[in-house]
Amino acid sequence: MQNFPKPIRLLAPLVALIATVVVVSGCGTTNPDIARGRVLFTTKCGVCHTLAQAGTTATIGPNLDDAFAAAREAGGFDAATIEGVVQAQVDSPRPSNGNPAVSMPPHIVEGTALDDIAAYIGKYAGVPGAAPPEVEGGPGAQVFANNGCGGCHTLAAANSGGTTGPNLDEHLPGVSEAEIEEKITNASAREVSGYPKGVMPENFGEKLSSTELEELAKFLHESVNKKSG
Ligand code: HEC
Ligand code: HEC
Repeated sequence: MQNFPKPIRLLAPLVALIATVVVVSGCGTTNPDIARGRVLFTTKCGVCHTLAQAGTTATIGPNLDDAFAAAREAGGFDAATIEGVVQAQVDSPRPSNGNPAVSMPPHIVEGTALDDIAAYIGKYAGVPGAAPPEVEGGPGAQVFANNGCGGCHTLAAANSGGTTGPNLDEHLPGVSEAEIEEKITNASAREVSGYPKGVMPENFGEKLSSTELEELAKFLHESVNKKSG
């Protein structure tokens, strides 16, 4: 905004105000930002939920593809209906089986962030063949994107900002490719103080082919050991 010529800069607050009014009164007339919804989903929701298009694989909450696939196929659920279900669930999560340890926390996101996430899920949940978009950076970067690593981990080379797990730019310099592979597939090879055990999925050893795993470790190793400047 600082770079606008002066008259436009003066207009900017007015434009923002109009936009706010439209959001408040529009009720579905605004255009949600699906790309932003995807990024928000991977960090805010992918920690607990599997969704193929996001590449997330967590199993603490229900698999959202499974949750909506049947309804979508039967034709009763369109994107708007799914959006409504998501909004309602995030606004007031339905308590699960009386076990508060696995309930969904209320109000993880609100406002336009929730609109964007709901629209994103409405577009992709349960859609057959939905897969993460292609990313730059080679095959290892694609493995990183396809498996939801960025939802939990910050890695500059992947533009990811997850904070559930350790920042890989800070934690992996100096670690060999073989050690990185070991850390990804073997929970007992990871000893990271301040981060909970049992949150990172423990099935990457089965889920990833040995080629994928090598490509992933190579990508991480190169990304974090790149000389900056
Ligand atoms: C800490 C884990 C956790 C996080 C984070 C989380 N959820 Fe959930 N979610 C759950 C659990 C557990 C359930 C099952 C119902 C319950 O316990 O509330 C659930 C249920 C749901 C359902 C209902 C699925 C069905 O089968 O009816 C939707 C939709 C949903 N979550 C969407 C989201 C969205 C969107 C986000 C991010 C804004 C999110 N969740 C974040 C744990 C989580
Ligand atoms: C649901 C969140 C989550 C996902 C998804 C996830 N991780 Fe993690 N990761 C963690 C947490 C939490 C830790 C630290 C605790 C532990 O060791 O289990 C961790 C630890 C690590 C470590 C060890 C860091 C160190 O300093 O030793 C590496 C490497 C790693 N993750 C890479 C990955 C890669 C690569 C992927 C994708 C294939 C991935 N993670 C997916 C949460 C996650």
